[in-house]
Amino acid sequence: MSPTPLVHALLILVFVGFSDALKVPFRIHDVLPVLPRGISWPVLNNLHSAVDLLPSFVASVTPNNASIQWQGACFSHNQARLDFTADANNASGLGGAILYLKTEAAQSWTCMDLYIFATPYRITWDYYFSAREHTLKFDSWEEPAELEYVKQHGVSVFLMPSGMLGTLLSVIDVLPLFSSTEWGQNANLDFLKRHMGATFEKRSQPWCATIDPADVHSGDFLAVSKIRGRWGGFETLEKWVTGSFAGHTAVCLKDEMGNLWVAESGHENEKGEEIIVIIPWNEWWISVLKEGSNPQIALLPLHPAQRAKFNSTAAWEYARSMAGKPYGYHNMIFSWIDTVADNYPPPLDAHLVISVMSMWTRMQPAYAANMLNEALNKRLGTEGLDLHDILVETEKRGIAFDQLLTIPEQDDWEYSDGKSTTCVAFILSMYKAAGIFGPISSSIQVTEFTIRDAYMLRIFEDNQTRLPKWCNNENDQLPFCQILGEYRMELPGYNTLDPYANMNENCPSLPPTYNRPLKC
Ligand SMILES: *[C@@H]1O[C@H](CO)[C@@H](O)[C@H](O)[C@H]1NC(C)=O
Ligand SMILES: *[C@@H]1O[C@H](CO)[C@@H](O)[C@H](O)[C@H]1NC(C)=O
Ligand SMILES: *[C@@H]1O[C@H](CO)[C@@H](O)[C@H](O)[C@H]1NC(C)=O
Ligand SMILES: *[C@@H]1O[C@H](CO)[C@@H](O)[C@H](O)[C@H]1NC(C)=O
Repeated sequence: MSPTPLVHALLILVFVGFSDALKVPFRIHDVLPVLPRGISWPVLNNLHSAVDLLPSFVASVTPNNASIQWQGACFSHNQARLDFTADANNASGLGGAILYLKTEAAQSWTCMDLYIFATPYRITWDYYFSAREHTLKFDSWEEPAELEYVKQHGVSVFLMPSGMLGTLLSVIDVLPLFSSTEWGQNANLDFLKRHMGATFEKRSQPWCATIDPADVHSGDFLAVSKIRGRWGGFETLEKWVTGSFAGHTAVCLKDEMGNLWVAESGHENEKGEEIIVIIPWNEWWISVLKEGSNPQIALLPLHPAQRAKFNSTAAWEYARSMAGKPYGYHNMIFSWIDTVADNYPPPLDAHLVISVMSMWTRMQPAYAANMLNEALNKRLGTEGLDLHDILVETEKRGIAFDQLLTIPEQDDWEYSDGKSTTCVAFILSMYKAAGIFGPISSSIQVTEFTIRDAYMLRIFEDNQTRLPKWCNNENDQLPFCQILGEYRMELPGYNTLDPYANMNENCPSLPPTYNRPLKC
Protein backbone atom coordinates (compact mmCIF):
# COMPACT_ATOMS: atom_id res chain seq x y z
CA MET A 1 0.00 0.00 0.00
CA SER A 2 1.74 3.10 -1.09
CA PRO A 3 0.32 6.60 -1.01
CA THR A 4 -0.50 8.34 -4.28
CA PRO A 5 2.20 10.74 -5.54
CA LEU A 6 0.21 13.80 -4.47
CA VAL A 7 -0.32 12.48 -1.00
CA HIS A 8 3.28 11.43 -0.88
CA ALA A 9 4.43 14.89 -1.78
CA LEU A 10 2.27 16.39 0.93
CA LEU A 11 3.56 13.93 3.49
CA ILE A 12 7.10 14.80 2.56
CA LEU A 13 6.26 18.44 2.95
CA VAL A 14 4.96 17.83 6.46
CA PHE A 15 7.82 15.52 7.22
CA VAL A 16 10.54 17.91 6.22
CA GLY A 17 8.89 20.56 8.29
CA PHE A 18 8.69 18.31 11.27
CA SER A 19 12.05 16.66 11.24
CA ASP A 20 13.65 20.06 11.13
CA ALA A 21 11.31 21.42 13.75
CA LEU A 22 14.05 21.58 16.30
CA LYS A 23 16.18 23.72 14.07
CA VAL A 24 13.69 25.79 12.08
CA PRO A 25 10.74 27.14 14.00
CA PHE A 26 7.88 25.59 12.09
CA ARG A 27 4.15 26.10 12.33
CA ILE A 28 1.95 23.19 11.56
CA HIS A 29 -0.96 25.63 11.11
CA ASP A 30 0.69 26.70 7.89
CA VAL A 31 0.66 23.24 6.43
CA LEU A 32 -2.44 21.66 7.87
CA PRO A 33 -4.93 23.46 5.59
CA VAL A 34 -3.25 22.12 2.46
CA LEU A 35 -3.73 18.56 3.59
CA PRO A 36 -6.82 16.84 2.19
CA ARG A 37 -9.40 15.93 4.79
CA GLY A 38 -8.80 12.21 4.49
CA ILE A 39 -5.18 12.66 5.36
CA SER A 40 -5.46 14.82 8.42
CA TRP A 41 -5.26 12.61 11.38
CA PRO A 42 -8.44 10.55 11.50
CA VAL A 43 -8.32 10.51 15.26
CA LEU A 44 -8.27 14.27 15.52
CA ASN A 45 -11.44 14.62 17.56
CA ASN A 46 -11.17 11.26 19.06
CA LEU A 47 -10.07 11.92 22.60
CA HIS A 48 -12.24 9.88 24.89
CA SER A 49 -10.66 10.43 28.24
CA ALA A 50 -7.63 11.72 30.02
CA VAL A 51 -6.06 8.27 29.87
CA ASP A 52 -5.84 8.66 26.10
CA LEU A 53 -3.54 11.59 26.61
CA LEU A 54 -0.88 9.91 28.71
CA PRO A 55 2.39 9.29 26.98
CA SER A 56 3.25 5.67 27.53
CA PHE A 57 6.72 4.72 28.55
CA VAL A 58 7.93 2.28 25.94
CA ALA A 59 11.44 1.39 27.02
CA SER A 60 14.87 2.63 27.82
CA VAL A 61 17.28 2.10 24.98
CA THR A 62 20.69 1.33 26.41
CA PRO A 63 23.88 1.40 24.39
CA ASN A 64 25.22 -2.13 24.86
CA ASN A 65 23.68 -3.22 21.55
CA ALA A 66 20.60 -4.66 23.19
CA SER A 67 17.84 -3.83 20.75
CA ILE A 68 14.36 -3.40 22.21
CA GLN A 69 11.01 -4.09 20.57
CA TRP A 70 7.47 -2.92 21.14
CA GLN A 71 4.12 -2.37 19.54
CA GLY A 72 3.16 1.19 18.65
CA ALA A 73 -0.19 2.80 18.05
CA CYS A 74 0.38 2.93 14.30
CA PHE A 75 3.26 0.56 13.63
CA SER A 76 2.93 -2.93 15.09
CA HIS A 77 6.60 -3.82 15.01
CA ASN A 78 9.17 -1.37 16.23
CA GLN A 79 12.77 -1.82 17.25
CA ALA A 80 15.34 0.54 18.60
CA ARG A 81 18.99 0.50 19.51
CA LEU A 82 21.51 3.10 20.53
CA ASP A 83 25.11 3.55 19.37
CA PHE A 84 27.53 5.93 20.99
CA THR A 85 29.39 8.18 18.58
CA ALA A 86 32.38 10.44 18.73
CA ASP A 87 31.31 13.98 19.39
CA ALA A 88 30.25 15.36 16.02
CA ASN A 89 31.03 19.01 16.69
CA ASN A 90 33.20 18.19 19.68
CA ALA A 91 31.45 20.75 21.83
CA SER A 92 31.76 18.84 25.06
CA GLY A 93 34.39 16.28 24.11
CA LEU A 94 32.00 13.68 25.48
CA GLY A 95 30.66 12.25 22.26
CA GLY A 96 27.01 11.69 21.44
CA ALA A 97 24.85 8.89 20.15
CA ILE A 98 22.59 7.82 17.34
CA LEU A 99 19.32 6.11 18.07
CA TYR A 100 18.13 3.78 15.32
CA LEU A 101 14.41 3.20 15.30
CA LYS A 102 12.85 0.76 12.86
CA THR A 103 9.11 0.95 12.21
CA GLU A 104 7.21 -1.85 10.45
CA ALA A 105 3.68 -3.03 9.75
CA ALA A 106 1.55 0.12 9.78
CA GLN A 107 -2.13 -0.26 10.62
CA SER A 108 -2.99 2.14 7.82
CA TRP A 109 -0.98 4.45 5.61
CA THR A 110 -2.39 7.62 7.10
CA CYS A 111 -1.39 6.82 10.64
CA MET A 112 1.72 7.94 12.44
CA ASP A 113 3.49 7.38 15.73
CA LEU A 114 4.73 10.30 17.75
CA TYR A 115 7.61 9.66 20.12
CA ILE A 116 9.32 11.64 22.82
CA PHE A 117 12.90 10.78 23.72
CA ALA A 118 14.25 11.94 27.03
CA THR A 119 17.18 11.90 29.40
CA PRO A 120 17.12 14.02 32.56
CA TYR A 121 19.09 16.53 30.52
CA ARG A 122 17.08 16.84 27.35
CA ILE A 123 13.76 16.14 25.73
CA THR A 124 13.44 15.70 22.01
CA TRP A 125 10.82 14.23 19.78
CA ASP A 126 10.07 12.91 16.33
CA TYR A 127 7.24 11.22 14.54
CA TYR A 128 7.06 8.59 11.89
CA PHE A 129 4.76 8.04 8.94
CA SER A 130 6.76 5.54 6.97
CA ALA A 131 7.93 2.01 7.63
CA ARG A 132 11.71 2.09 7.57
CA GLU A 133 14.72 2.70 9.76
CA HIS A 134 14.80 6.20 11.21
CA THR A 135 17.70 7.77 12.99
CA LEU A 136 17.75 10.30 15.77
CA LYS A 137 21.02 12.02 16.52
CA PHE A 138 22.27 13.22 19.88
CA ASP A 139 25.12 15.46 18.78
CA SER A 140 26.87 15.64 22.10
CA TRP A 141 26.07 14.99 25.74
CA GLU A 142 25.65 18.05 27.86
CA GLU A 143 27.84 16.98 30.72
CA PRO A 144 29.63 13.88 31.99
CA ALA A 145 26.63 13.12 34.22
CA GLU A 146 24.40 12.76 31.17
CA LEU A 147 26.83 10.39 29.50
CA GLU A 148 26.97 8.35 32.70
CA TYR A 149 23.19 8.37 33.00
CA VAL A 150 22.72 7.14 29.45
CA LYS A 151 25.35 4.42 29.90
CA GLN A 152 23.46 3.11 32.91
CA HIS A 153 19.81 3.86 32.17
CA GLY A 154 19.68 4.58 28.47
CA VAL A 155 17.47 7.03 26.63
CA SER A 156 13.81 6.79 27.65
CA VAL A 157 11.30 6.44 24.85
CA PHE A 158 7.71 7.57 25.30
CA LEU A 159 4.96 6.89 22.79
CA MET A 160 2.35 9.61 22.55
CA PRO A 161 -1.20 8.41 22.01
CA SER A 162 -2.52 8.85 18.52
CA GLY A 163 -4.67 11.87 17.87
CA MET A 164 -2.75 14.24 20.06
CA LEU A 165 -2.78 17.02 17.56
CA GLY A 166 -3.46 19.60 20.24
CA THR A 167 -0.59 18.33 22.28
CA LEU A 168 1.58 18.16 19.24
CA LEU A 169 0.94 21.81 18.52
CA SER A 170 1.78 22.72 22.08
CA VAL A 171 4.89 20.62 21.93
CA ILE A 172 6.08 22.46 18.85
CA ASP A 173 5.80 25.65 20.83
CA VAL A 174 7.36 24.32 23.97
CA LEU A 175 10.10 21.83 23.16
CA PRO A 176 12.52 24.33 21.61
CA LEU A 177 12.55 26.06 24.97
CA PHE A 178 14.64 23.21 26.31
CA SER A 179 17.34 23.35 23.67
CA SER A 180 20.65 24.53 25.06
CA THR A 181 21.59 26.56 22.02
CA GLU A 182 21.36 30.19 20.95
CA TRP A 183 18.23 29.17 19.11
CA GLY A 184 16.79 27.60 22.25
CA GLN A 185 17.53 30.76 24.19
CA ASN A 186 15.77 32.85 21.56
CA ALA A 187 12.79 30.52 21.81
CA ASN A 188 12.65 31.29 25.53
CA LEU A 189 12.95 35.04 25.05
CA ASP A 190 10.30 35.03 22.31
CA PHE A 191 7.98 32.96 24.41
CA LEU A 192 8.28 35.30 27.40
CA LYS A 193 7.89 38.37 25.21
CA ARG A 194 4.81 36.99 23.52
CA HIS A 195 3.07 35.47 26.50
CA MET A 196 4.16 37.69 29.38
CA GLY A 197 5.07 40.98 27.76
CA ALA A 198 8.71 40.74 28.86
CA THR A 199 11.07 43.05 26.95
CA PHE A 200 14.65 41.74 27.37
CA GLU A 201 16.46 44.99 26.68
CA LYS A 202 20.21 44.80 26.61
CA ARG A 203 21.91 46.14 29.70
CA SER A 204 24.96 48.34 29.81
CA GLN A 205 28.31 46.67 30.48
CA PRO A 206 29.76 45.18 32.63
CA TRP A 207 27.36 42.28 32.58
CA CYS A 208 29.06 40.65 35.52
CA ALA A 209 29.52 42.66 38.73
CA THR A 210 32.61 42.53 40.94
CA ILE A 211 30.91 41.98 44.25
CA ASP A 212 32.33 43.15 47.54
CA PRO A 213 30.88 40.77 50.14
CA ALA A 214 31.23 43.52 52.77
CA ASP A 215 28.23 45.30 51.18
CA VAL A 216 26.02 42.22 51.22
CA HIS A 217 24.02 41.29 54.32
CA SER A 218 22.10 38.46 55.90
CA GLY A 219 18.65 38.16 54.36
CA ASP A 220 19.52 39.79 51.02
CA PHE A 221 17.49 38.05 48.33
CA LEU A 222 18.88 36.64 45.08
CA ALA A 223 16.45 36.48 42.14
CA VAL A 224 17.67 34.24 39.33
CA SER A 225 16.29 33.97 35.83
CA LYS A 226 17.62 31.20 33.59
CA ILE A 227 16.95 31.52 29.90
CA ARG A 228 18.70 28.62 28.21
CA GLY A 229 18.80 24.81 28.25
CA ARG A 230 16.61 22.50 30.26
CA TRP A 231 16.41 24.77 33.30
CA GLY A 232 15.75 27.73 31.07
CA GLY A 233 12.84 25.93 29.43
CA PHE A 234 11.49 24.72 32.72
CA GLU A 235 11.71 28.18 34.26
CA THR A 236 10.06 29.75 31.23
CA LEU A 237 6.99 27.61 31.76
CA GLU A 238 7.05 28.23 35.49
CA LYS A 239 7.30 31.99 34.97
CA TRP A 240 4.46 31.94 32.53
CA VAL A 241 2.20 29.92 34.79
CA THR A 242 2.95 31.93 37.92
CA GLY A 243 3.51 35.39 36.42
CA SER A 244 6.97 35.60 38.01
CA PHE A 245 9.76 37.27 36.07
CA ALA A 246 12.36 35.20 37.90
CA GLY A 247 12.46 31.43 38.03
CA HIS A 248 14.73 30.66 40.96
CA THR A 249 15.79 32.25 44.23
CA ALA A 250 18.47 32.01 46.91
CA VAL A 251 19.32 34.03 50.00
CA CYS A 252 22.49 35.49 51.53
CA LEU A 253 23.66 34.77 55.07
CA LYS A 254 26.62 36.14 57.01
CA ASP A 255 28.27 34.24 59.83
CA GLU A 256 29.80 35.76 63.01
CA MET A 257 33.19 36.00 61.27
CA GLY A 258 31.67 38.16 58.55
CA ASN A 259 31.96 35.46 55.88
CA LEU A 260 29.26 35.50 53.22
CA TRP A 261 27.23 32.36 52.47
CA VAL A 262 24.38 31.47 50.16
CA ALA A 263 21.48 29.32 51.32
CA GLU A 264 19.57 27.74 48.48
CA SER A 265 16.87 25.15 47.99
CA GLY A 266 17.27 23.46 44.64
CA HIS A 267 21.05 23.30 44.38
CA GLU A 268 22.22 20.42 42.25
CA ASN A 269 24.68 18.10 44.05
CA GLU A 270 27.23 15.78 42.38
CA LYS A 271 24.59 13.08 42.10
CA GLY A 272 22.30 15.37 40.14
CA GLU A 273 19.83 15.68 43.02
CA GLU A 274 18.25 18.99 43.90
CA ILE A 275 18.78 19.66 47.60
CA ILE A 276 18.96 22.44 50.20
CA VAL A 277 22.51 23.71 50.82
CA ILE A 278 24.41 26.46 52.62
CA ILE A 279 27.59 27.15 50.65
CA PRO A 280 30.26 29.87 50.66
CA TRP A 281 29.46 32.84 48.42
CA ASN A 282 32.46 32.22 46.16
CA GLU A 283 31.52 28.63 45.52
CA TRP A 284 27.97 29.66 44.63
CA TRP A 285 29.13 32.51 42.39
CA ILE A 286 31.60 30.31 40.53
CA SER A 287 28.94 27.67 39.98
CA VAL A 288 26.44 30.16 38.50
CA LEU A 289 29.12 31.66 36.25
CA LYS A 290 29.79 28.18 34.90
CA GLU A 291 26.13 27.41 34.24
CA GLY A 292 24.96 26.73 30.72
CA SER A 293 21.57 28.27 31.48
CA ASN A 294 22.83 31.84 30.95
CA PRO A 295 21.44 33.04 34.30
CA GLN A 296 20.44 36.66 34.89
CA ILE A 297 20.76 37.47 38.59
CA ALA A 298 19.59 40.35 40.75
CA LEU A 299 20.49 41.04 44.36
CA LEU A 300 17.54 42.50 46.27
CA PRO A 301 18.99 43.94 49.50
CA LEU A 302 16.69 44.04 52.51
CA HIS A 303 15.55 47.50 53.60
CA PRO A 304 17.79 48.81 56.42
CA ALA A 305 14.82 48.71 58.79
CA GLN A 306 14.21 45.05 57.98
CA ARG A 307 17.92 44.30 58.21
CA ALA A 308 17.91 45.75 61.71
CA LYS A 309 14.99 43.48 62.58
CA PHE A 310 16.55 40.38 60.99
CA ASN A 311 17.49 37.83 63.63
CA SER A 312 20.50 36.21 62.04
CA THR A 313 20.83 33.58 64.77
CA ALA A 314 17.29 32.36 64.14
CA ALA A 315 17.82 32.46 60.36
CA TRP A 316 20.96 30.32 60.64
CA GLU A 317 19.17 27.89 62.96
CA TYR A 318 16.39 27.47 60.43
CA ALA A 319 18.77 27.11 57.48
CA ARG A 320 20.92 24.54 59.30
CA SER A 321 17.83 22.52 60.22
CA MET A 322 16.96 22.24 56.52
CA ALA A 323 20.41 21.73 54.99
CA GLY A 324 20.70 18.47 53.07
CA LYS A 325 16.94 18.00 52.75
CA PRO A 326 15.45 17.58 49.28
CA TYR A 327 14.05 20.41 47.20
CA GLY A 328 10.28 20.67 47.65
CA TYR A 329 9.06 19.02 44.51
CA HIS A 330 5.61 18.46 45.89
CA ASN A 331 5.15 22.08 46.94
CA MET A 332 6.09 23.06 43.46
CA ILE A 333 3.80 20.56 41.84
CA PHE A 334 0.86 21.66 44.00
CA SER A 335 1.28 25.29 43.26
CA TRP A 336 1.43 24.29 39.61
CA ILE A 337 -1.60 22.09 39.87
CA ASP A 338 -3.57 24.80 41.62
CA THR A 339 -2.65 27.35 39.01
CA VAL A 340 -3.19 24.97 36.15
CA ALA A 341 -6.61 24.03 37.39
CA ASP A 342 -7.65 27.63 37.96
CA ASN A 343 -6.49 29.23 34.81
CA TYR A 344 -4.16 27.43 32.58
CA PRO A 345 -2.78 29.70 29.90
CA PRO A 346 -3.43 28.62 26.30
CA PRO A 347 -2.20 26.90 24.16
CA LEU A 348 -1.18 24.41 26.79
CA ASP A 349 -3.81 22.63 28.75
CA ALA A 350 -3.80 20.68 31.97
CA HIS A 351 -3.34 17.47 30.06
CA LEU A 352 -0.09 18.49 28.53
CA VAL A 353 1.19 19.56 31.92
CA ILE A 354 0.31 16.13 33.21
CA SER A 355 2.10 14.56 30.25
CA VAL A 356 5.22 16.58 30.86
CA MET A 357 5.04 15.99 34.58
CA SER A 358 4.62 12.27 34.12
CA MET A 359 7.69 12.13 31.91
CA TRP A 360 9.59 14.43 34.16
CA THR A 361 8.89 12.50 37.36
CA ARG A 362 10.12 9.39 35.62
CA MET A 363 13.41 11.01 34.76
CA GLN A 364 14.09 12.63 38.14
CA PRO A 365 15.81 11.00 41.11
CA ALA A 366 13.80 8.45 43.07
CA TYR A 367 12.71 10.82 45.82
CA ALA A 368 10.97 13.04 43.31
CA ALA A 369 9.54 10.28 41.20
CA ASN A 370 6.33 9.76 43.06
CA MET A 371 5.40 13.27 44.03
CA LEU A 372 2.78 13.91 41.42
CA ASN A 373 1.15 10.54 41.95
CA GLU A 374 1.21 11.05 45.69
CA ALA A 375 -0.49 14.40 45.31
CA LEU A 376 -3.22 12.98 43.12
CA ASN A 377 -3.68 9.94 45.38
CA LYS A 378 -4.24 12.29 48.32
CA ARG A 379 -6.90 14.07 46.37
CA LEU A 380 -8.69 10.80 45.65
CA GLY A 381 -8.16 9.38 49.12
CA THR A 382 -6.32 6.43 47.60
CA GLU A 383 -2.82 5.09 48.06
CA GLY A 384 -0.13 3.88 45.73
CA LEU A 385 -2.01 4.20 42.44
CA ASP A 386 0.11 5.15 39.46
CA LEU A 387 -0.96 7.91 37.11
CA HIS A 388 -2.78 5.58 34.77
CA ASP A 389 -4.77 3.94 37.59
CA ILE A 390 -5.49 7.35 39.08
CA LEU A 391 -7.09 8.49 35.85
CA VAL A 392 -9.07 5.27 35.53
CA GLU A 393 -10.28 5.68 39.12
CA THR A 394 -11.20 9.32 38.47
CA GLU A 395 -13.33 8.31 35.55
CA LYS A 396 -14.95 5.47 37.47
CA ARG A 397 -16.11 7.98 40.05
CA GLY A 398 -17.48 10.27 37.37
CA ILE A 399 -15.13 13.12 38.27
CA ALA A 400 -13.76 15.17 35.39
CA PHE A 401 -10.00 15.25 35.23
CA ASP A 402 -9.91 19.00 35.73
CA GLN A 403 -12.06 18.66 38.85
CA LEU A 404 -9.56 16.27 40.36
CA LEU A 405 -6.89 18.89 39.92
CA THR A 406 -8.91 21.59 41.63
CA ILE A 407 -9.31 19.70 44.90
CA PRO A 408 -7.29 22.01 47.17
CA GLU A 409 -4.22 21.01 49.10
CA GLN A 410 -4.70 20.30 52.82
CA ASP A 411 -2.00 21.44 55.20
CA ASP A 412 -2.15 18.23 57.22
CA TRP A 413 -1.39 15.96 54.27
CA GLU A 414 2.01 14.46 54.80
CA TYR A 415 4.21 13.34 51.97
CA SER A 416 6.86 10.66 51.86
CA ASP A 417 9.76 13.10 51.80
CA GLY A 418 8.58 14.88 54.94
CA LYS A 419 9.94 18.37 55.31
CA SER A 420 11.09 19.97 52.08
CA THR A 421 10.62 23.36 50.51
CA THR A 422 10.78 25.05 47.15
CA CYS A 423 13.39 27.74 46.69
CA VAL A 424 11.10 30.59 47.64
CA ALA A 425 9.21 28.82 50.44
CA PHE A 426 12.62 28.13 51.98
CA ILE A 427 13.57 31.81 51.97
CA LEU A 428 10.23 33.00 53.28
CA SER A 429 10.31 30.42 56.06
CA MET A 430 13.71 31.78 56.98
CA TYR A 431 12.33 35.34 56.94
CA LYS A 432 9.51 34.14 59.17
CA ALA A 433 12.01 32.62 61.62
CA ALA A 434 14.12 35.79 61.50
CA GLY A 435 11.17 37.99 62.42
CA ILE A 436 10.61 39.85 59.13
CA PHE A 437 6.86 39.31 59.26
CA GLY A 438 6.65 40.43 62.90
CA PRO A 439 3.30 39.83 64.60
CA ILE A 440 1.53 38.41 61.50
CA SER A 441 4.11 35.61 61.10
CA SER A 442 1.67 32.90 62.13
CA SER A 443 -0.84 33.92 59.48
CA ILE A 444 1.64 33.80 56.61
CA GLN A 445 1.48 30.54 54.63
CA VAL A 446 4.77 30.48 52.76
CA THR A 447 3.64 27.74 50.38
CA GLU A 448 1.04 30.12 48.97
CA PHE A 449 3.77 32.47 47.72
CA THR A 450 5.19 32.40 44.24
CA ILE A 451 8.53 34.02 43.44
CA ARG A 452 6.59 37.04 42.19
CA ASP A 453 4.73 37.31 45.50
CA ALA A 454 8.08 37.28 47.29
CA TYR A 455 9.73 40.08 45.29
CA MET A 456 6.55 42.16 45.49
CA LEU A 457 6.84 42.32 49.30
CA ARG A 458 7.70 45.80 50.53
CA ILE A 459 10.72 44.72 52.57
CA PHE A 460 13.56 45.62 50.19
CA GLU A 461 15.83 48.64 49.81
CA ASP A 462 13.82 51.53 48.32
CA ASN A 463 16.59 54.09 47.96
CA GLN A 464 18.69 53.54 44.83
CA THR A 465 21.48 55.76 46.13
CA ARG A 466 22.08 53.29 48.91
CA LEU A 467 22.71 50.37 46.50
CA PRO A 468 26.38 49.30 46.48
CA LYS A 469 28.66 51.06 43.96
CA TRP A 470 29.53 47.80 42.21
CA CYS A 471 25.90 47.42 41.06
CA ASN A 472 26.89 49.73 38.14
CA ASN A 473 23.38 51.05 38.04
CA GLU A 474 24.06 54.57 36.67
CA ASN A 475 22.78 53.80 33.18
CA ASP A 476 20.09 51.28 33.82
CA GLN A 477 18.60 52.83 36.95
CA LEU A 478 17.11 49.59 38.18
CA PRO A 479 15.42 49.66 41.60
CA PHE A 480 17.61 46.72 42.63
CA CYS A 481 21.16 45.53 42.02
CA GLN A 482 21.62 43.31 38.97
CA ILE A 483 24.87 41.40 39.32
CA LEU A 484 24.81 39.15 36.26
CA GLY A 485 23.32 38.99 32.79
CA GLU A 486 23.18 40.79 29.49
CA TYR A 487 19.47 41.66 29.75
CA ARG A 488 17.91 44.14 32.17
CA MET A 489 15.92 42.14 34.66
CA GLU A 490 12.33 43.22 35.09
CA LEU A 491 10.48 42.49 38.29
CA PRO A 492 7.08 44.17 37.86
CA GLY A 493 5.56 45.21 41.16
CA TYR A 494 8.90 44.92 42.92
CA ASN A 495 8.87 46.11 46.55
CA THR A 496 5.27 47.38 46.53
CA LEU A 497 3.15 45.21 48.83
CA ASP A 498 3.15 45.44 52.61
CA PRO A 499 2.76 41.96 54.08
CA TYR A 500 -0.68 41.24 55.55
CA ALA A 501 -2.32 38.28 57.26
CA ASN A 502 -3.44 35.40 55.00
CA MET A 503 -1.64 37.00 52.12
CA ASN A 504 -1.88 35.30 48.68
CA GLU A 505 -4.33 32.66 49.75
CA ASN A 506 -6.90 33.62 47.10
CA CYS A 507 -4.96 35.09 44.22
CA PRO A 508 -5.60 34.14 40.61
CA SER A 509 -2.78 34.50 38.10
CA LEU A 510 -3.97 35.15 34.60
CA PRO A 511 -1.55 35.87 31.80
CA PRO A 512 -0.65 38.12 30.15
CA THR A 513 -1.21 40.83 32.79
CA TYR A 514 -1.49 38.68 35.92
CA ASN A 515 -3.70 41.27 37.60
CA ARG A 516 -3.67 40.82 41.32
CA PRO A 517 -6.80 41.83 43.26
CA LEU A 518 -6.07 43.88 46.38
CA LYS A 519 -5.80 41.81 49.59
CA CYS A 520 -6.30 38.48 47.79
C1 LIG B 1 25.53 -7.62 21.06
O1 LIG B 1 25.47 -8.11 19.74
C2 LIG B 1 26.24 -9.31 19.52
C3 LIG B 1 26.19 -9.67 18.03
O2 LIG B 1 25.02 -9.22 17.46
C4 LIG B 1 25.69 -10.43 20.41
O3 LIG B 1 26.46 -11.59 20.25
C5 LIG B 1 25.75 -9.98 21.86
O4 LIG B 1 25.18 -10.93 22.70
C6 LIG B 1 25.01 -8.64 22.04
N1 LIG B 1 25.20 -8.13 23.39
C7 LIG B 1 24.19 -7.76 24.14
C8 LIG B 1 24.54 -7.23 25.50
O5 LIG B 1 23.04 -7.79 23.78
C1 LIG C 1 37.57 16.67 21.18
O1 LIG C 1 38.20 17.63 21.99
C2 LIG C 1 39.11 17.07 22.94
C3 LIG C 1 39.59 18.18 23.85
O2 LIG C 1 39.47 19.43 23.27
C4 LIG C 1 40.24 16.38 22.20
O3 LIG C 1 41.15 15.82 23.14
C5 LIG C 1 39.63 15.27 21.37
O4 LIG C 1 40.63 14.65 20.60
C6 LIG C 1 38.55 15.82 20.43
N1 LIG C 1 37.87 14.70 19.81
C7 LIG C 1 37.62 14.65 18.53
C8 LIG C 1 36.88 13.43 18.08
O5 LIG C 1 37.91 15.53 17.75
C1 LIG D 1 17.03 35.58 67.92
O1 LIG D 1 16.76 34.20 67.78
C2 LIG D 1 17.33 33.38 68.79
C3 LIG D 1 17.11 31.95 68.40
O2 LIG D 1 15.78 31.72 68.00
C4 LIG D 1 16.73 33.74 70.13
O3 LIG D 1 17.30 32.95 71.15
C5 LIG D 1 16.99 35.22 70.39
O4 LIG D 1 16.35 35.62 71.59
C6 LIG D 1 16.49 36.07 69.24
N1 LIG D 1 16.95 37.45 69.43
C7 LIG D 1 16.13 38.47 69.46
C8 LIG D 1 16.73 39.80 69.66
O5 LIG D 1 14.92 38.33 69.36
C1 LIG E 1 18.53 58.09 49.99
O1 LIG E 1 19.73 57.86 50.66
C2 LIG E 1 20.60 58.98 50.63
C3 LIG E 1 21.92 58.56 51.24
O2 LIG E 1 21.72 57.82 52.40
C4 LIG E 1 19.95 60.16 51.36
O3 LIG E 1 20.79 61.29 51.31
C5 LIG E 1 18.62 60.47 50.68
O4 LIG E 1 17.92 61.46 51.40
C6 LIG E 1 17.75 59.22 50.60
N1 LIG E 1 16.58 59.51 49.80
C7 LIG E 1 15.35 59.23 50.22
C8 LIG E 1 14.23 59.59 49.29
O5 LIG E 1 15.13 58.73 51.31
